[in-house]
Amino acid sequence: MTEEDLVGKVIEQYTLLRCIGEGSFSEVYEAQCKNKFFACKVCEQEKQYNTELAAYTLLKNSGASLAIHSTGEYQGHKFIVMDLGTDARNLIFRGNIGKNLVAFLQVLDCVKICTEKGVNHNDIRESNIVFYEEQAKLIDFGTASFSSIGLSSSYSRKINPCLGTEGFNTRAYRDTENLARILAYFVRNSVQSSAQIKARLQAMAIDAQIQCRKAGTAQNTLNLLHSKLEEMLGLATYEPIKL
Ligand SMILES: Nc1ncnc2c1ncn2[C@@H]1O[C@H](COP(=O)(O)OP(=O)(O)O)[C@@H](O)[C@H]1O
Ligand SMILES: [Mg+2]
Repeated sequence: MTEEDLVGKVIEQYTLLRCIGEGSFSEVYEAQCKNKFFACKVCEQEKQYNTELAAYTLLKNSGASLAIHSTGEYQGHKFIVMDLGTDARNLIFRGNIGKNLVAFLQVLDCVKICTEKGVNHNDIRESNIVFYEEQAKLIDFGTASFSSIGLSSSYSRKINPCLGTEGFNTRAYRDTENLARILAYFVRNSVQSSAQIKARLQAMAIDAQIQCRKAGTAQNTLNLLHSKLEEMLGLATYEPIKL
């Protein structure tokens, strides 16, 4: 399957307009139905598609994920039509630091919801976050796993000693721990008028990353990041800009 094969094709009532994203096992298209626009993810692998659908079912109406409008098969490929978001990276690179910290807070809430619903995303990173109606949402649940662990259970840091190193996208990483790394990314790539304040915020984000390694439980990690964020927001000059 290549991009050229599918642009212009009509899946159910959705016309594929252009490819907006590609991953290892999928291509994502902007799709039009009447005067509305959607995202249509065409999956190479059925396993990934099934996992993704299972996650979306558990997270339906939770606020952490996008709405699904249609699913099915087209010429041997499974597809999912969902809300069309804006890639988080587009916003981060032109967003000021205050706005980005607020956005990060929303990502934190999404992960909290997932944890409560027993969905481990397993691949939390900036390319798997979009904004929809000014709210951060997680996408790409193709490598999710499901548990009844919930927020109250603890897990040892020892099983995941590699936070802060390269390879953050491997399944070994826990969602809550990955957040600390993304926080640093949000801060590093933000626009900030004062270089001095930005440097302090960057140091705080890195400090949060180090502390998260010792937090021990998902609950502790989320709480720790929450308090760090409040501290950081207090320091950042928050000039609201429409997302
Ligand atoms: N609903 C969506 N709205 C906007 N962009 C999306 C949407 N879904 C996916 N994308 C874009 O497509 C890329 C690949 O989609 P993703 O679901 O992460 O696929 P993969 O499983 O192959 O990584 C994302 O990084 C994002 O840029
Ligand atoms: Mg992805």
